[in-house]
Amino acid sequence: MIIAFLKENDEYENRSILLPEHISPITKLGFKVLVENGYAKKLNIDDKFYNDNGAELKSASDICSLSDIIIKISGKGLETFNFKNGSLIITAFFDKDNDKILKLKNDKKLEIFGLNYLPRITRAQAMDVLSSQSNLAGYKAVIDTAYEFSKALPMMMTAAGTITPAKYFIIGAGVAGLQAIATAKRLGAVVSATDVRLASKEQVESLGAKFVFVESDENLETEGGYAKEATEDYKMKQEELMRQTVKNQDVVITTALIPGKKAPLIISEEMVLSMKPGSIICDLATSQGGNVAFSERDRVIEKNGVKIIGYSNYASRTAYSASGLLAKNVINFLSLLIDKESKSLKIDFEDEIIKGVRI
Ligand code: NAI
Repeated sequence: MIIAFLKENDEYENRSILLPEHISPITKLGFKVLVENGYAKKLNIDDKFYNDNGAELKSASDICSLSDIIIKISGKGLETFNFKNGSLIITAFFDKDNDKILKLKNDKKLEIFGLNYLPRITRAQAMDVLSSQSNLAGYKAVIDTAYEFSKALPMMMTAAGTITPAKYFIIGAGVAGLQAIATAKRLGAVVSATDVRLASKEQVESLGAKFVFVESDENLETEGGYAKEATEDYKMKQEELMRQTVKNQDVVITTALIPGKKAPLIISEEMVLSMKPGSIICDLATSQGGNVAFSERDRVIEKNGVKIIGYSNYASRTAYSASGLLAKNVINFLSLLIDKESKSLKIDFEDEIIKGVRI
């Protein structure tokens, strides 16, 4: 079986799913590995290292005509490749609304998997691309805000006087939010956080942060552990709570997402303008429309002295670590598709994980 890795074609994408050290685990599963020429140029990894570790370098068109399985981070632009009929394409992030690709899928009888649709079950955790990447996004958001902020984060008692600690407020305490809390705490900030899911209270508090919560009888958590869209009444209460909380913060990091929906707008224009000049906001939801008024996708802007960071592909800002975790996610997923004894492809289309990711 031939498995191949295609380069990304997005200017904001610095990751490459496969690092040279991950070729050997894939060949052990029974694959011959092809990699597109110049595959990890953005990570400063020369093709030579892929060659030395047992992969063959090929052009994109050779890859498409030779390979049984093709792996790429983003499903964007798949319609530009001339895949052979019946190929299996595994993407880390696929958008089901892309009609051009769905047409190509039907025309060429392709099988496409999008790992971003994995069910959030324990067995799938090692393949969970959303978690592995959100974790790094939460970390990097704190590093970026600390870089932009002109004050120190920890409390410092010096002979010349005391520096007070920075106040960080994290909105959305899922995977990215919890990592942001942990990182900001490690850097010495005073951290508080909020979420619509009451279950996150214990997790926030176990990291030493204060939990700020809207008093309500509504259960805004789905059975799958995700957030539901809030009612108008809840939104009004949340707005008031945010108005009172945000103005006193040095840094606000927003990570609030609702699967399949536009991200909720949580920080209004008025709230941004109520913050002290020099404060920093980082909006991790700009790829879904953003949680913050004024935030602009892939730009850092300033409003009334408040900097707003809006990078949409946050994990790509820690591209090497993110690539290594994606590689592990993909290898773990591939082992599910392989019959260990015959080392051949054996896909159980009734498996809950396969059903989830199958486009
Ligand atoms: P996400 O990226 O979909 O959303 C981020 C956070 O924003 C969530 O915690 C969500 O509740 C919150 N949120 C949404 N709307 C909000 C609003 N209006 N105001 C404030 N917060 C809002 O979530 P993520 O990080 O993917 O995690 C979702 C859930 O899945 C969590 O419970 C997490 O612990 C769980 N999970 C379970 C895994 C498993 O394998 N069992 C693996 C990864 C996550």
